[in-house]
Amino acid sequence: MEEKLSSVAKTLAPSPIQQLSYLAERCNAINLAEGFPNFPAPLHIKDAAVSAIRSDFNQYRHVQGICDYVACKMKEMHGMNVNPLTDIVICCGQSEAFAATMLAIIDRGDEVILLDPSYETYDTCIRLAGGVPVYLGLDPPHWTLNSDKLEKAFTDKTKALVLNSPHNPTGKISTKDELEIIAEACRRRDVLAVTDEVYEHITFDNERHISLASLPEMQGRTIITSSLSKTFSVTGWRVGWAIAPTCIASAIRNIHIKITDSAPAPFQEAALAALRSPPEYFDLLRRDYESKRDCIFNLLAKVGFKMEFKPKGSFFLFAELPESCTLSDVEFVEELIKQAGVVAVPGSGFFHANPSADNISRRYIRFAFCKSEDTLTAASAKIGRLVDNASGYLKLFQLVRKS
Ligand SMILES: Cc1ncc(COP(=O)(O)O)c(C=O)c1O
Repeated sequence: MEEKLSSVAKTLAPSPIQQLSYLAERCNAINLAEGFPNFPAPLHIKDAAVSAIRSDFNQYRHVQGICDYVACKMKEMHGMNVNPLTDIVICCGQSEAFAATMLAIIDRGDEVILLDPSYETYDTCIRLAGGVPVYLGLDPPHWTLNSDKLEKAFTDKTKALVLNSPHNPTGKISTKDELEIIAEACRRRDVLAVTDEVYEHITFDNERHISLASLPEMQGRTIITSSLSKTFSVTGWRVGWAIAPTCIASAIRNIHIKITDSAPAPFQEAALAALRSPPEYFDLLRRDYESKRDCIFNLLAKVGFKMEFKPKGSFFLFAELPESCTLSDVEFVEELIKQAGVVAVPGSGFFHANPSADNISRRYIRFAFCKSEDTLTAASAKIGRLVDNASGYLKLFQLVRKS
């Protein structure tokens, strides 16, 4: 039967998270792997969802109010004028918004530039749409964009560039200078930009997220994708959106309607309550996540990870194994599960550009800190128990590599 699969489907394999989750389950490991909160969603939006279900919002639905609020937020946060009637499409999360965008703009053979390391889903969506992902490695430890490398990534076939800021897995926020370099290149090369801004409200140290679309002449060539998932701790509700120039938004809408018709009706209703949340909600979200970041960052630094880069946004820490550690990222995570009872994600799944160049792709572990205080405290205690008293560092770093 396998020969019946499409050539893209044949190349798809379970992600490293899925592969390790079986072992993690058997060891009853504390989960710092998956990028979703394990604490309750805000009460006011849950009440709104319950009330929508009770009010029989059960059918296919388009809640225009979401587009109106999203347009207001774009004005408030980025000074952008977005027409809520024509330029916003409600989708089933950022994931569908991104997939529909690729189907709307990519023809077979079109190249799409991605910054590496990157969230795994983009690659699949680009290839399903017939496009060719072209990777450009960000430079560690600060995951800096190199303008020469960017220039070399463009060819006559480049159709779009994807930017995710705040960034999964590193927690980097693209600087204004980097955004200007990208914007200048997109304008000069007449290339579209597709942004993933799902962590737009999760930023630290007084940093604020800047949308690439807000730079001069960029709104007309940028498709923004985002969602409720991370900001309101509701990754399972599947409400997101794409914001795009009218003609592209219209194509995305047509594709969205053909694929899923509409996002879940009761959760669209609840999205209105979410988007209406007062400024204090967003301030508290930032403060809470900043203290969770500090807690896990300090722990990992103390037990010997190389922590040269402190995340400025998202809810991930991309921790580098120290030179003394001879285990690969996958071997390290296996041992962390078995010996500490904590699961994180091996970094190699996020790297695509020149995987063997300097071996950096096998030196990072992604820890998700979008977890309750109890979970973070328990994980800290478990990791703390594995510390070698003499060095003060994790005993796992001393293990000898098998392969
Ligand atoms: C960078 C990034 N984009 C998008 C998503 C998925 O967003 P959604 O739940 O809105 O589909 C995730 C989830 O982990 C993510 O990390």
